[in-house]
Amino acid sequence: MKRLLNFLAIFSLGAMICISCTKEGPQGPPGEDGIDGIDGTSGTAGCIQCHTNNENMQIKSAEWAVSGHVTGGHMGGSSYGSREGCTDCHSSQGYQLAVTGSWDNSPADKPLSANCYTCHQIHETYTADDWAFRVPDGGLPFLVNDVTSDQANANTCIVCHQSRVAEPEIDLASSDNVSITSSRYGPHHGPQGNMIAGVGNSGAYELTGSMNYVNSTHASSTSTSCVTCHMASGAGSGGNYELGGHSNNVAVGSWDDDSREVNVNGCITCHNEYSDNDGITAFVASARATNMALFDQLAQKLTDLGYLTGSGSVNASSGTPLVISPEHAAAIYNYQFVKEDQSMMIHNPKYAKALITNSLEALN
Ligand code: HEC
Ligand code: HEC
Ligand code: HEC
Ligand code: HEC
Ligand code: HEC
Ligand code: HEC
Repeated sequence: MKRLLNFLAIFSLGAMICISCTKEGPQGPPGEDGIDGIDGTSGTAGCIQCHTNNENMQIKSAEWAVSGHVTGGHMGGSSYGSREGCTDCHSSQGYQLAVTGSWDNSPADKPLSANCYTCHQIHETYTADDWAFRVPDGGLPFLVNDVTSDQANANTCIVCHQSRVAEPEIDLASSDNVSITSSRYGPHHGPQGNMIAGVGNSGAYELTGSMNYVNSTHASSTSTSCVTCHMASGAGSGGNYELGGHSNNVAVGSWDDDSREVNVNGCITCHNEYSDNDGITAFVASARATNMALFDQLAQKLTDLGYLTGSGSVNASSGTPLVISPEHAAAIYNYQFVKEDQSMMIHNPKYAKALITNSLEALN
């Protein structure tokens, strides 16, 4: 029914100018006037660059519908979309203000979950140019330290997938203790943009230690960052659209019950020793196991020191703050940064391993 209405709306705007049919339909409304002897464009020539019947938009919509953005339940009016401080990344309207550089906006009356209009400039020129992104070319500076990291088409993603400023900010050059007052101390959810930006003051605290801070190839050579791996064309074993494209899923299923499946298509240009999802999934599983063993050492150390509770949150509140050295606070931050990145270091393995290793050394 919705599609029929859409069609009728387009129809009424003059869609009946026949492009390839042999029989002429009724005449549509006139197009633009010509200028200086050059013909104007027909009123529908723009619309049909997108509203064709090849189902391309339906495919993108179907992919988007299975993306974590839609299925996770944390977006839009019934969730954090209606909260100030959260709506910027948890609603469509909030994001459209955030990409202009305006943060902490009031929620819209009816905050929507992210949709086609969120990232793309739909219905501004009514031509295919409207697939352009809302985020300006070159990207926005991160909230943390104002660092800009140009990740091409993925700039659209990293407006949301970035660290938020954690209080207190730590000055590693100072020897004064810092006071942590929140059990949620850290970069909060989704610091992937900063993790990929890597070396420099793009997010985490680069404690000195035995490992140097260098970026892995994933961070320095995948020119469209998130898009390269998470939006590569791809199909799961069932041939469905839950992997790749607008599903944004680089992998689906769970590691716990062995049902995890990684989409190889964004990887094979470099990892050409793997040709199918099974091969790359096994490779990721093995790297993950190694990385988790390292990560767990840091978790254990922080728990032994009483900095983390048994459930993994920071052992601090406004009533009972955690008062510790800047290095120790930075180690907690780095732990949270790697954890919230959610890739178990695979986004930027060399950099993440240096963060964890050097944080462990700072605590020992
Ligand atoms: C850049 C591609 C593009 C062009 C060009 C375009 N549209 Fe759309 N249109 C979209 C997308 C994307 C949607 C949203 C689809 C969805 O949410 O499922 C949409 C939705 C619609 C809808 C449904 C109601 C709505 O607003 O969501 C109508 C009606 C519509 N378009 C008419 C037109 C007309 C008429 C033109 C030309 C004057 C046009 N469109 C040009 C991409 C385009
Ligand atoms: C408007 C802000 C916003 C934009 C833009 C955005 N994301 Fe997200 N993303 C989120 C939020 C919020 C969630 C969590 C949604 C939930 O749990 O309901 C999420 C979830 C995800 C997930 C699922 C995580 C999981 O644990 O299952 C992936 C993968 C992801 N995003 C990748 C991307 C990629 C790739 C892009 C760019 C093409 C992108 N996102 C653009 C805000 C955004
Ligand atoms: C700068 C953008 C941004 C802001 C602001 C933001 N979030 Fe999010 N949030 C995200 C992204 C991105 C994700 C998805 C992260 C992922 O899956 O790795 C997310 C995910 C979440 C999740 C789901 C976590 C999970 O593990 O499934 C919760 C809960 C959440 N945010 C709460 C909030 C609250 C509450 C606020 C406001 C106080 C807020 N967020 C503000 C970007 C943001
Ligand atoms: C989270 C942000 C985001 C949302 C929401 C989103 N897209 Fe996209 N879209 C992208 C990115 C990023 C690309 C570029 C992918 C690439 O470079 O391979 C893209 C590319 C496209 C393209 C190819 C554009 C071209 O220039 O040829 C189409 C078509 C498209 N999207 C349609 C849609 C439709 C339809 C919806 C709504 C169902 C939608 N998108 C929602 C981020 C988004
Ligand atoms: C080099 C490829 C690559 C790049 C680039 C990349 N990712 Fe990932 N990402 C992965 C892999 C592989 C996993 C899954 C690891 C696993 O299954 O344990 C993952 C996991 C995630 C997750 C956890 C949820 C999930 O799907 O498992 C989120 C959220 C995410 N990435 C977002 C992003 C964002 C946002 C960017 C861009 C800033 C990005 N990724 C860049 C490969 C990549
Ligand atoms: C631009 C090339 C490139 C792309 C694209 C790429 N990788 Fe990699 N990847 C590398 C290189 C090179 C290394 C090893 C050296 C390094 O870390 O820089 C690596 C390392 C890895 C590792 C080892 C991680 C660790 O902790 O040691 C895993 C797992 C991995 N890649 C998975 C993937 C997956 C999955 C994809 C696709 C979703 C992917 N890569 C896409 C080049 C790439």
